[in-house]
Amino acid sequence: MSREPILIDLPSELRGPRVLVRPYRPGDGAALQEAVSLSREHLKPWMPWADAHTTVDESEALVRRFDARWRLREDLGVGIWDIETGRYLGGSGLHRIDWDVRRFEIGYWIRADAAGKGYVTEAAGLLCQLAFGPLEANRVLIRCATENRRSAAIPIRLGFLYEGTHRNEGRRTDGLLFDMEVYGMTADRWRQLATAEGMAPGESQSGQAPAASNSPDSP
Ligand SMILES: CC(C)(COP(=O)(O)OP(=O)(O)OC[C@H]1O[C@@H](n2cnc3c(N)ncnc32)[C@H](O)[C@@H]1OP(=O)(O)O)[C@@H](O)C(=O)NCCC(=O)NCCS
Repeated sequence: MSREPILIDLPSELRGPRVLVRPYRPGDGAALQEAVSLSREHLKPWMPWADAHTTVDESEALVRRFDARWRLREDLGVGIWDIETGRYLGGSGLHRIDWDVRRFEIGYWIRADAAGKGYVTEAAGLLCQLAFGPLEANRVLIRCATENRRSAAIPIRLGFLYEGTHRNEGRRTDGLLFDMEVYGMTADRWRQLATAEGMAPGESQSGQAPAASNSPDSP
């Protein structure tokens, strides 16, 4: 792929049935600060920045850096918003990008009072549509700590395949080392799953591909 990443036109937002995913803009800092400040205990085990965002200025500076990095196509961080109410729900994005391989890694978190409603699975499905659509991804991966089953449930629901576990790959905020599970999706598989659902890639109404039996416990 010869085209420079900065020349790739990206949509200004992605819409699912319930969530809107879009890059951060100047002015989003207050919403980010509020969501993190109300979710610290929920985020703490897994998010090293859970104690940050103590002021709106700190969060505003971060969203402006996200905005700059999005424009440069260095990192594609996004916010997740409730379509109906406009409330900020959490953060996600396509990170650790390898433009040569066209590989992207999805990360996510959701505010504590919006967890358990399927918003993150919907947002991650929208990011897959972006990756395997306009970004022409060959591979998208999701990594999560072995103990973080709520996180692992997301790639499994989306039909990613479990690829293995990297031992002692990360350190929890309480200092303990953890093993990291890796889930991968290829462009071919994404299209196959979309076809099996009777849709062209990127036309999923739910933002989700059909789930497959692919957890570490699967044969
Ligand atoms: C990991 C994390 C993002 C998962 O969030 P989540 O809200 O559980 O994920 P989803 O949005 O996909 O919601 C799935 C849940 O919503 C339920 N749900 C309700 N309505 C739904 C709908 N319409 N569609 C899909 N799922 C729905 C699902 O049944 C599931 O609940 P269950 O786990 O009790 O079965 C969240 O726990 C979090 O922010 N943790 C802290 C940060 C973190 O660990 N990040 C990941 C680091 S790798």
